[in-house]
Amino acid sequence: MMEKTFLMVKPDAVQRGLIGTIIARFESKGFKLLAGKLMTISDTLVQKHYAEHQGKPFYADLVSFMTSGPVFAMVWEGEDIIQIARLMMGPTDPKKALPGTIRGDFATRMNRNVIHGSDSAESASREIGLFFDNSELIDW
Ligand code: TYD
Ligand code: MG
Repeated sequence: MMEKTFLMVKPDAVQRGLIGTIIARFESKGFKLLAGKLMTISDTLVQKHYAEHQGKPFYADLVSFMTSGPVFAMVWEGEDIIQIARLMMGPTDPKKALPGTIRGDFATRMNRNVIHGSDSAESASREIGLFFDNSELIDW
């Protein structure tokens, strides 16, 4: 099924110069980049983005980490991209992420795990709407 997903290079990976490497993974896989921007995000935006985690023990650190430097927000399109992108990212905990996955190759800590990717069609559409106007998605 043709789908769109929301992917975001987190501040740790932007700071380490990994934007290009991460984009290359998804380009090489055959997915299509529809939109991308370097941006700093407000507390309000992170709180909306991670609303499901409000109240959890890691939440405050997560919000301060996500606002600690620029992120690279993207919309990608492809067949079954939501599930495949999650596989390419690897599990949330880098200790469980196999080599060959993005988190397996580039992360060691859960709270510095390099990339975000939507976990369902509902999340994808909600998250794309939080970060992008429809007019920013390139139809090509
Ligand atoms: P979550 O949505 O569970 O993971 P994913 O990014 O794989 O969808 O959690 C969101 C982020 O919160 C996660 O990428 C890193 C951070 N986090 C922690 O710092 N500690 C934790 O115990 C969990 C579950 C998440
Ligand atoms: Mg998640």
